[in-house]
Amino acid sequence: ERIVFIGKHLLRWFEIAGRKHLPWQHRPSAYRVWISEVMLQQTQVATVIPYYERFMARFPDVQSLAAAEIDEVLHLWTGLGYYARARNLHRAAQRIVAEHRGRFPETLQAVQSLPGIGRSTAGAILALSASKRHAILDGNVKRVLCRYFGIEGFPGESDIERHLWRLAEACTPVRGVARYTQAIMDLGATVCVRTRPDCAACPLHLLCVARIEARQSVLPTPRPK
Ligand code: ADE
Repeated sequence: ERIVFIGKHLLRWFEIAGRKHLPWQHRPSAYRVWISEVMLQQTQVATVIPYYERFMARFPDVQSLAAAEIDEVLHLWTGLGYYARARNLHRAAQRIVAEHRGRFPETLQAVQSLPGIGRSTAGAILALSASKRHAILDGNVKRVLCRYFGIEGFPGESDIERHLWRLAEACTPVRGVARYTQAIMDLGATVCVRTRPDCAACPLHLLCVARIEARQSVLPTPRPK
């Protein structure tokens, strides 16, 4: 049914249309995925790539980041904006050194407790770097799930968000977690976009409630005024 269909079809779609050559997808350690996910929180992939490459060249691991002066971290962040992200990266690196002997933590709880890492970013780090079966639920994924399952109501509202987390977890397959996670983010970023989604190109269109009922333009429900 709906829940099994999404995993199966997204994994198949990923093979033909997914992004498989982003710099952080090569040798994807938790550290590399973490830095990329934080950069990608409010910045487009194309902008992030050169920043990511410079950051990794200077800070190839948690130890080098933790030992750096904050000014140098901020300098490498210049132009990316939202500088709290860089301060949190630096603080988190210092905590990983102090509390985890420099090894990136491997449980959702421990990852999520680090500064600047919410539940979705923690899930993405563990899913993408270690294929651990954790769900993600960023803005793009919320849009995909609201449309596919035909969910009414503002997705920032806590009841709706809880429901979306349950669905996101149920949809995450046991096999191919990393590819599935990248696929659902890519689908939201490139096909199931906010205005004029490209439903003809969507691997989920046959079962998508919004597409079937022609409600793509009203789902997800906007923030109430
Ligand atoms: N946005 C957030 N995470 C991403 C990722 N891993 N790939 C592409 N876009 C993203």
